[in-house]
Amino acid sequence: MTSGWFITFEGGEGSGKSTQAKRLSERLKEEGHSVTVTREPGGSPFAERLRTLILDPTLETHTPLAEALLFASARADHLDQVIRPSLAAGGVVICDRFLDSTRVYQGYAGRVEPRLLEALELIVVQHTKPDLTIVIDIPAEVGLARAALRMEAPVHTAPSEKPPKQPRGLLTDRFETRDLAFHKKLREGFIEIARLEPQRCVVVDGQRSPDEVARDVWSIVQARLLSDTA
Ligand code: TYD
Repeated sequence: MTSGWFITFEGGEGSGKSTQAKRLSERLKEEGHSVTVTREPGGSPFAERLRTLILDPTLETHTPLAEALLFASARADHLDQVIRPSLAAGGVVICDRFLDSTRVYQGYAGRVEPRLLEALELIVVQHTKPDLTIVIDIPAEVGLARAALRMEAPVHTAPSEKPPKQPRGLLTDRFETRDLAFHKKLREGFIEIARLEPQRCVVVDGQRSPDEVARDVWSIVQARLLSDTA
């Protein structure tokens, strides 16, 4: 094998992508593959620093272009430092969100011109398109409710102290706080991409147990990727 497989997971908030990315990685490792699990925005030291900035709920940019360029910058570094070297070494890269999140969050449901995003994609992603994209689909209401449950339990122990709620960074990120209409639009966007690119994308019903979803994901990976090398 001269180049490994690039698999991405996409979907709205609370769809269970990250769990599935981890489970797929474990399964592939059991089969003897070398696997890198990574995420966007982030995935490399430089991109993780940009992630903190991009998702900071106290920093709202009113220039959608500025935001899109930050995502693109983080992605360029992540591709260079992590994704391309791992693929070149013949490994499997599993990325939690990638270019479709930009197309959907910034383009379809956001305020950035699709032409601009296409240009950035050409420059930054180039030929490093995913071999397989798994879209975990759930209704926006369900995903948002699940995401709200991720609120961690209080961390304090002293009974006299009033325990502060400790939201995970995600819960307060700038995208999650958008309204339901925005999240419904995200769902439509992912489905539309999958419809337009059926060779690359498969939609999986995320409203089932993690085990059932993982079983589907595994059959898809076997059918689409593993059978090629059998
Ligand atoms: P994250 O904590 O990774 O959320 P999730 O668990 O839902 O993946 O936060 C990433 C947020 O950034 C998420 O709301 C989607 C958004 N995002 C974009 O808007 N554009 C992008 O290109 C990417 C990769 C993510």
